[in-house]
Amino acid sequence: MDKKTLEQEVAKRRTFAIISHPDAGKTTITEQMLLFGGVIREAGTVKAKKSGNFATSDWMEIEKKRGISVTSSVMQFDFDGKRVNILDTPGHEDFSEDTYRTLMAVDAAVMVIDSAKGIEPQTKKLFKVVKKRGIPIFTFMNKLDRDGREPLDLIAELEELLDIEGVAMNWPMGMGKGLRGLYDIYSHRIEMYRPESEATRFVPLDPETGTIKGNHPLKEDTIYQQTLDDIDLLSEAGNKFDRAKIAAGEQTPVYFGSALTNFGVESFLKSFLSMAPAPAEHELQSGNTLGADAPEFSGFVFKIQANMNPAHRDRIAFVRICSGEFQKGMTVKLARTGKDLRLNNATEFMSAQREQVESAVAGDIVGLYDTGNFQIGDSIYTGKEDIQFEKLPQFTPELFVEVTAKNVMKQKSFHKGMQQLVQEGAVQLYKTYATDDYILGAVGQLQFEVFQFRMLHEYNSEVIMKPIGARTARWIDPEQLDPRMSSSRNLLVKDLQGNPLFLFENRFAENWFKDKYPDIKLKTLM
Ligand code: G4P
Repeated sequence: MDKKTLEQEVAKRRTFAIISHPDAGKTTITEQMLLFGGVIREAGTVKAKKSGNFATSDWMEIEKKRGISVTSSVMQFDFDGKRVNILDTPGHEDFSEDTYRTLMAVDAAVMVIDSAKGIEPQTKKLFKVVKKRGIPIFTFMNKLDRDGREPLDLIAELEELLDIEGVAMNWPMGMGKGLRGLYDIYSHRIEMYRPESEATRFVPLDPETGTIKGNHPLKEDTIYQQTLDDIDLLSEAGNKFDRAKIAAGEQTPVYFGSALTNFGVESFLKSFLSMAPAPAEHELQSGNTLGADAPEFSGFVFKIQANMNPAHRDRIAFVRICSGEFQKGMTVKLARTGKDLRLNNATEFMSAQREQVESAVAGDIVGLYDTGNFQIGDSIYTGKEDIQFEKLPQFTPELFVEVTAKNVMKQKSFHKGMQQLVQEGAVQLYKTYATDDYILGAVGQLQFEVFQFRMLHEYNSEVIMKPIGARTARWIDPEQLDPRMSSSRNLLVKDLQGNPLFLFENRFAENWFKDKYPDIKLKTLM
């Protein structure tokens, strides 16, 4: 690909993730987007996969049992002149470090909120990670076909709970049974809910006055007048649309709609894709930045998925391409080891099937078959200049188990497995100060199950895991360490680097500790 084509291709890319709380409608809206992109032909395809009604290949057994599939990890399609990559952020029981790390590989995020429920805990957690990255966040207030909370309330909540300004892009005309349409503030039109025909779907507005031109039955509807009053109020008291703030993730454009009835989704997709950024530069460990239009290939591994089928020991390393073009069979340098690697089997992800990729550019994700070469956070590149992307952050685990080998005679394989799996970054390992007991920490429960399964199948080591429940992990300054501060309610442990931290049983235990030791500073990872 010549320089100009490469630049054009990169400029077309839009790579984002959808963040939400379970049941807000992420799957439904993803499916609608795939329909617009022509990837699927029927609604229900992604849904069927989620509920386990989908014929997947022999991928991870645990994944299969839970009805998820690696093929849905990345979905790619063309829409409105853009090449869209949607990265899935596993939720429900599959919520894990991977969910967070995926957010390191995107250029924007879409936040789906159930308009009856408002901002829920998982949305908040994911939002925090996205906010730290300073990338644009677009909000879809879903389920407008049901009675929900007041639109103004929902926007105010963004500021109260997430500390981000919300700026309304459209405004609901009624909701639930009374839903009539969406007043589209920037496109100067009303999108009718359930119009009689396609021709009557949009009602144009006079851009000067913001009112319907000519005659229209809607003008007689009280909801119309009410909406005009709301819009007046918004333009006086609401946040002002600000491109710079949106780009920095300080303001989120808010769209209302209903994913299930496919109402407002297409307008949303068009509008946010027009504002979402193409791949930009990435920070390097050297302190320099690398532009997405740099000619040489580079990328980093943000997720490694193991194949749980013992007959297939291969794994897939997911690479976010940061610059240049990826080509099948190319030789790259692995920054961590300085060794050359030939990349033979690469997979580009489509929602319907896995396809062999010939080439991909900055912004795209490729899956590389891995026989143990890669670690999460690895940088790969071609060209003479060394490229090491910034380290991926570690996330504070929330669940903990004590782990021991069932057979004390098999300590060697136990330790080997522990060491290798911990290095992959799926779980974090801690040791107690007093007795050197192993404690594993993870963001989600699934990680423990995968760990146990792989210890048995890959290292022939049966492990016993004793849950010690949800805990809050807080790091302390090693200089302030005093083993006498440890108790069952605030267990003192050290991480792999030897840094001390407490695992608090709950908030009360943490507050009690803070009162007792006011001089000790407690820190989280991210
Ligand atoms: P998730 O991926 O965020 O977990 O949510 P998902 O899309 O699976 O949606 C969760 C539930 O909310 C589903 O109902 C779905 O049909 C419903 N839903 C999604 N968008 C809308 C919407 O705009 N309006 C309404 N009224 N409902 C919506 P379910 O009963 O759990 O599943 P199903 O049996 O209906 O498929």
